Amino acid sequence: MSEQTVREWHAAAEGGDLVLLDGFHALKHALRFGADVRVAVADDPGAVRALAAQLASDVEDDVARLVRAAELRTLLPRVHPTGVAALAVRPDAAEGRALLDRTPRTAPIVVLDNPRNLGNVGAVVRLAAGFGATGVVTRGDLDPWHPNVVRAGAGLHYATTVQSVSLETLPEGPVYALDPEGEDIRALALPDDALLAFGSERHGISPELRARADHLVSLPMRPQVSSYNLATSVAMALFHWGGPHPG
Ligand SMILES: C[S@@+](CC[C@H](N)C(=O)[O-])C[C@H]1O[C@@H](n2cnc3c(N)ncnc32)[C@H](O)[C@@H]1O
Repeated sequence: MSEQTVREWHAAAEGGDLVLLDGFHALKHALRFGADVRVAVADDPGAVRALAAQLASDVEDDVARLVRAAELRTLLPRVHPTGVAALAVRPDAAEGRALLDRTPRTAPIVVLDNPRNLGNVGAVVRLAAGFGATGVVTRGDLDPWHPNVVRAGAGLHYATTVQSVSLETLPEGPVYALDPEGEDIRALALPDDALLAFGSERHGISPELRARADHLVSLPMRPQVSSYNLATSVAMALFHWGGPHPG
C-alpha cells in the first residue's frame, strides 16, 4: 500500500464537501454522469479494472487512471464487496437549485416529506435518475447525500438533482401528494411540472404539506392493506407519469 495514496485519501476526506462513493457501481455511475472524482482506492486495482472492462467499458480508462492500491479496511468502517471506494465533489447547491427552478419543467420533481430510511431515499434517487425526473428534494433532517443514501442510490445522485428544501423553498409547481386516502391515480394524468410528494415511512404526508397539496392521489391497493413502501410508491407514480421522453 502506498503511503502517499493513504495520505491523499485522508487529505481529501478531511478537506471539504466530498461524497463517499462506496463500491464499483457508485464509482461507475458517478464517472458516467460527470462527477469530479478526486481519489479512488482499491485493495486490488487490477480486479477493479477487470470489472470496468467487463461491466462499463465507457469508463474503463477513467477507472484505470484513478484507482490506486490501498488497504480499504484501514480507511473505511465497512468495505464494499467490490473492494473499491472513491471520493467525489458534491455538486454545487446553487447550480442544482437553478436546474430545479428551470422552466418549462420537462419532468416531475419527487418530494420526500421527512423520510427516515436512508435505503429508501437512495432507492428513490435511483428511480428518479432512471425515469429522468428533474430531481429529488427532501424535507427534514436527513441528509440526502449521506454515504448510505449514495450507496443505496448506486452513485446516481450525479444523474439527477438531489437537495434538501424547506416548505418555504419548495420549487414551483402543482403539488400531487400521494396518500392512500386520495383520488385514484388512474383517473388523472400527472403533468411534467408536478411536484410528486410522498410522506414519511411512519407518519405519511405531514399536515403542512397536505395543506399545500393541489391534489391528493392514491395508488390502487386492496382493502386491509395499509400502505406500500415509500420507494415502491415513488416507482408506481413515476411509471404512471410516463418516464423519459423518447429521443
Ligand atoms: C409507508 S407509507 C406511509 C404509511 C403511513 N403509516 C401512513 O399513515 O400514511 C409512505 C408513503 O408512501 C406513499 N404511499 C404508500 N401507499 C400508498 C397508496 N396506496 N397510495 C398513495 N400513496 C401511498 C405515501 O406518500 C405515504 O406517505
